[in-house]
Amino acid sequence: MLEGRNILLIIGAGIAAYKSLELIRRLRERGVGVRCAMTDGATHFITPLSVAAISEHKVYQDLFSLTDESEMGHIRLSRESDLIVVAPATADLMARMAAGMADDLAATVLLATDKRVLLAPTMNVMMWNHAATQANVALLRQRGIVTVGPGSGDLACGEVGSGRMAEPPEIIAAIEYMLAPRPLEGASALVTSGPTYEPIDPVRFIGNRSSGKQGHAIAAALARAGARTTLVAGPTHEPDPAGVALVRIETANEMLAAVERLLPVDIAVCAAAVADWRVAAPANNKLKKGRNGAPTLSLVENPDILATIGRAGARRPRLVVGFAAETENVVANARAKLTKKGCDWVLANDVSPAQGTFGGDRNTIHLVHADGVEDWPTLTKAEVAARLVERVGRHLGRA
Ligand code: CTP
Repeated sequence: MLEGRNILLIIGAGIAAYKSLELIRRLRERGVGVRCAMTDGATHFITPLSVAAISEHKVYQDLFSLTDESEMGHIRLSRESDLIVVAPATADLMARMAAGMADDLAATVLLATDKRVLLAPTMNVMMWNHAATQANVALLRQRGIVTVGPGSGDLACGEVGSGRMAEPPEIIAAIEYMLAPRPLEGASALVTSGPTYEPIDPVRFIGNRSSGKQGHAIAAALARAGARTTLVAGPTHEPDPAGVALVRIETANEMLAAVERLLPVDIAVCAAAVADWRVAAPANNKLKKGRNGAPTLSLVENPDILATIGRAGARRPRLVVGFAAETENVVANARAKLTKKGCDWVLANDVSPAQGTFGGDRNTIHLVHADGVEDWPTLTKAEVAARLVERVGRHLGRA
């Protein structure tokens, strides 16, 4: 999918610059045209000659070079690429980007561009964790800049921790993500994911085994397809999906409030395993064992978030998708949920323990809608997400 695309690679002054040579090779193998710009500091780590030899193009270094500007000005350098990748992205370069400075060729190109930008940060772990760097990265992300890494592991400075630059295959995966077709550009989506925790007292709760893998994968796939996506997630150990706005909640009531604030959207996918009941009156203090034996918990039903979205009147999304977690009569029960909850599609899956769906990596889906059932093969949760998003695109006439 990268064949014929053009990337401007800005190489910053980090020890990891040697990995940029490998990155250029791997991109060239995929038929990508790579133009490179280097900061002055970067030339202390690798030479412009090796970058030029591997990229098979002249390397740009100087903002005020008469020959460079007449051959390929700094504005054209970014205009003629599909994406700008900064690898290594140093603390200094990110600080200059955040401040909007244009004090060298790299910073000027990054300020003058209308292209998407991917950063592969790398630095000493203390520098990465410093409040200044964290604030700069947060600001850049807020402006739509995407980051890949840094990963954890041994750093060149001898310390261990977060700060190591992402490896070339991870950077290429991020590039593929950013250059993927975006059929849902301009659409908005909300996804619920993970379990909800309903408090019994300040330390105990009622929860379930949902991992959030499927919902998070769907949010990531919607964002990849260009939808402005918000993920309303219960407590999970899943990493935050790239390019997705995240709202963290714990209880079903909090999930409902978050969803109501987000409506209207074009697409809603409810993948959360919402607890059906909550404790009517959670204790303010920790319940203690005593002479009275075990406490009796009085439960009340939680709001149905999917049904609320499905019956939201004028604020109802154009497409409302729910899941049906069933252990028997999978399709028949899913059909009943379709009408009961007012949704357009139900993705029914068998969650009996033998299937290993809860917490597992694979899912066997039956897409149930008013006109029938589509049986999908067993797929990974990422594949289910990609297939669903492709199907959403077709349904909305965007694929
Ligand atoms: N759902 C929801 N809010 C709830 C319960 C469920 O939004 N309070 C959504 C889930 O996110 C899922 C769908 O409804 O998309 C079906 O969830 P499921 O657990 O299969 O069904 P329940 O409604 O809980 O019904 P039952 O327990 O009777 O199977």
